[in-house]
Amino acid sequence: MSGVHFLVLLFHASRESVKGVIIQGKYYDLLPEVTNASILSPLKEASVERPLLCAALCKRYARTLGAPVRIPASAFLSPAFDFRSILLDSERDPVCSIYTVGMEGGDELTCRLGGPNSQVGAAVGTTSKLYLNSARVPQDYVFGMVTSGKIYFLKKLLANYNYTNAKAACEAGGGQLAMDNRGDDWHNYIKAYITVHYWIGGDDLNPSLIYTWRDGSLMSQPKSYWCTSQPDRHNHCASMRGAPANTTDTSQLCWDDVACASQIPSLCEIGIP
Ligand SMILES: *[C@@H]1O[C@H](CO)[C@@H](O)[C@H](O)[C@H]1NC(C)=O
Ligand SMILES: *[C@@H]1O[C@H](CO)[C@@H](O)[C@H](O)[C@H]1NC(C)=O
Ligand SMILES: *[C@@H]1O[C@H](CO)[C@@H](O)[C@H](O)[C@H]1NC(C)=O
Repeated sequence: MSGVHFLVLLFHASRESVKGVIIQGKYYDLLPEVTNASILSPLKEASVERPLLCAALCKRYARTLGAPVRIPASAFLSPAFDFRSILLDSERDPVCSIYTVGMEGGDELTCRLGGPNSQVGAAVGTTSKLYLNSARVPQDYVFGMVTSGKIYFLKKLLANYNYTNAKAACEAGGGQLAMDNRGDDWHNYIKAYITVHYWIGGDDLNPSLIYTWRDGSLMSQPKSYWCTSQPDRHNHCASMRGAPANTTDTSQLCWDDVACASQIPSLCEIGIP
């Protein structure tokens, strides 16, 4: 199509409470729950006049982009405008999966593009909006929170599996068994989210019999949330106890080691980008 790219702005309402833009068939969902998170280590930063231009940059971003660019909105109205005059074609290198648009003093919007290694964090005093390529969020995952440099989504797998099959089931759905190692806010979020007893991603199935998360880090650090007198070493796989239906005592929501062959639901997570 002779290098002219058509932008389509549509409101996308297929998922409740999420809307965003669709550009050339690619979805970017606005995360309305996040008002002050920004990409801390952007692939690229540019000032733009409209959020749509940021989406367009994300879509067209290529690693080789040079110095900061300023794109006037009028450029998009010109039929002769070709992104490739300022960017390389990124169709073969779709590294930008997330972007934030925020006001940081002045009238201009700061557009930050994020890729797989970008950190996302809460910047106090900013009012960024965060958009992400919804194709990156596997089915049935719900937004949790922005923490530890990523945007975390959780999913409850209610079918009962043993630990081995629970790991495999989370992975088959594009995620992994959840790790509860991102501080009190994350721990409290999980406590509020879960309902029953779930597998989480930790075990002591290693030669030294030390409880580690699936990434190899120690479960005892930076903080442990084992239930009283757990782990008791009779068992080797970690679960998160849900609250009994008849109590509001959240001190009972804690880690418990259970037999790896137990059949219980699983808590899966994915961190983006
Ligand atoms: C921004 O996020 C930080 C960290 O989560 C929080 O402490 C702060 O209150 C937030 N600020 C605003 C304006 O939402
Ligand atoms: C809550 O339910 C458990 C298990 O069914 C039971 O053992 C316990 O006594 C109950 N506690 C209260 C306060 O009813
Ligand atoms: C889980 O069940 C599978 C069979 O579905 C079995 O191969 C595996 O060893 C079991 N894992 C545990 C820890 O019991």
